[in-house]
Amino acid sequence: MLQAGTIEQLQSFAEIMADIVTDGLKNALGAERAIEPKNNTRLAWEELLKEARACTRCHLYKYATQTVFGEGPLDAAIVFVGEQPGDQEDLAGRPFVGPAGQLFDRALEAAEIDRSTVYVTNAVKHFKFIRRGKRRIHNKPEAGEIEACRWWLDHERALIRPPVTVALGATAARALTGKTVTISRARENPLTLDDGGECWITVHPSFLLRIPEEDRRKAEKKLFLRDLKRIKARAEELRG
Ligand code: URA
Repeated sequence: MLQAGTIEQLQSFAEIMADIVTDGLKNALGAERAIEPKNNTRLAWEELLKEARACTRCHLYKYATQTVFGEGPLDAAIVFVGEQPGDQEDLAGRPFVGPAGQLFDRALEAAEIDRSTVYVTNAVKHFKFIRRGKRRIHNKPEAGEIEACRWWLDHERALIRPPVTVALGATAARALTGKTVTISRARENPLTLDDGGECWITVHPSFLLRIPEEDRRKAEKKLFLRDLKRIKARAEELRG
């Protein structure tokens, strides 16, 4: 039979133990909160990058210099998706650094989108080209190559979970929607992707570089700028 004093001692011992456990839990939870979720995202992204650098999902890795993976903050509100790296991107190992990238940068600036705040990637991560003498001429990726590479794009987007993803051109639109789209029609209204994010479709910057007539080029650049401004406004609206 326990004495009344013993019961009180046991009760206060139990209370002290409960406090210790609660404090321990609080500390543990606090510590967990202190580990930014983005740090886990960063670690996962780095693993993804490591794997992508050794990608053999299609044959394109055999001819390209290296995998050109996406870059940018992993909490970006906007993910831009191009087609595939070009000659300069293949050598530099970074997306959109060549002539199309320079036009893209100028357009972003005009739309007041800071490139360092957005994530930029491609539907296909290896440069596909035809060799002509010393030159390597861009060669459009086929459906099977886009499909094989979509695995990386899906994982990039799954980590970033952007409210807005932008398809720059038909290849990116196909990778994101699984469909062939007509840009002139598709650019007017965003689509909803499986994860609930919005997909905005616009032209590829290299399309603008290839327009020979000055008037038409100017008009198309204006439309591109209009799209970018809409995209920026929408991303701000969704992110709050
Ligand atoms: N064109 C693309 O689609 N992506 C690049 O990275 C460069 C040019």
